[in-house]
Amino acid sequence: MKLFLDSANLTEIREAMAWGGIDGVTTNPSLVAREQRDFFPLLKEICETVHGPVSMETTCRDAAGMVDEGRVFAKLHPNIVVKCPLTKEGLSATRRLTGEGIRVNVTLCFSAAQALLAAKAGAYIVSPFVGRLDDISSDGMELIREIRTIYDNYHYATQILVASVRHPRHVVEAARLGADIATLPFGVLEALVRHPLTEIGLERFLKDWEQLSATSGRKGL
Ligand code: G3P
Repeated sequence: MKLFLDSANLTEIREAMAWGGIDGVTTNPSLVAREQRDFFPLLKEICETVHGPVSMETTCRDAAGMVDEGRVFAKLHPNIVVKCPLTKEGLSATRRLTGEGIRVNVTLCFSAAQALLAAKAGAYIVSPFVGRLDDISSDGMELIREIRTIYDNYHYATQILVASVRHPRHVVEAARLGADIATLPFGVLEALVRHPLTEIGLERFLKDWEQLSATSGRKGL
C-alpha cells in the first residue's frame, strides 16, 4: 500500500520523506490556506520535493472552472494530480480532464454509489473520507470494504485512496482491505512508528550495554 502525506507543510513533507518513505502528497484548500503562502510557488516547491503524485484541489464549483484550473495545475509539474469534488460538476470535469490525459483525484467521497460514479468517470484516484464518516458514528472502513468489492468486481483501475485518516488503525485496516493508498496527517504518520515496548526494549538494551562497558572499562565497541 502506498502512503501519502496529507499536508502542504514543507517541513512535515521533508521530514516524512526522510524516514516515512512517503510515496506522494495530498493537499486540499484548507491545508494550503493554513500555510499562508503564495499558492503557485508553494505547490511547485512541494512538487519538486516529493518524488510522487501531488494532489491539488480545484476551487471552482462549476465544471468549466474546474477544467480551466486543472489545466493550469497540470502544466505546473508532471507530478500534479488534479482534485475535483464528487459532485455532478466535479464528475463532468473529471471526464473532460481525463480525456485530456490529466489525472484526477475525485475527493469528498462518502458513499459506495459515489465511488462507482467516480470510477465510471475515469478517475485516477477516488478519496473516501473515513474519519469524517466515523465522526458522525458511521463506519468509514466499511465504505472502503464496499468500494474495494465493487472495483474488483468490474476491474476498475481507479485507485482507492483512504483519506481523512485519524489514527494508525485506519491505516492497518486500509492495508488489510486492499486499499491502494492511505493519506495521513503528519501526526498519524509519526504515531505509526511509536510503540511503548520498542522504547522500553531499546532503553533496556542500551542500559545493559552501558553496564558491560562500565564493568569492562571499555567505552563503545
Ligand atoms: O485532505 C483530504 C482529507 O484527508 C482531509 O481529511 O477529515 O482530516 O480534514 P480531514
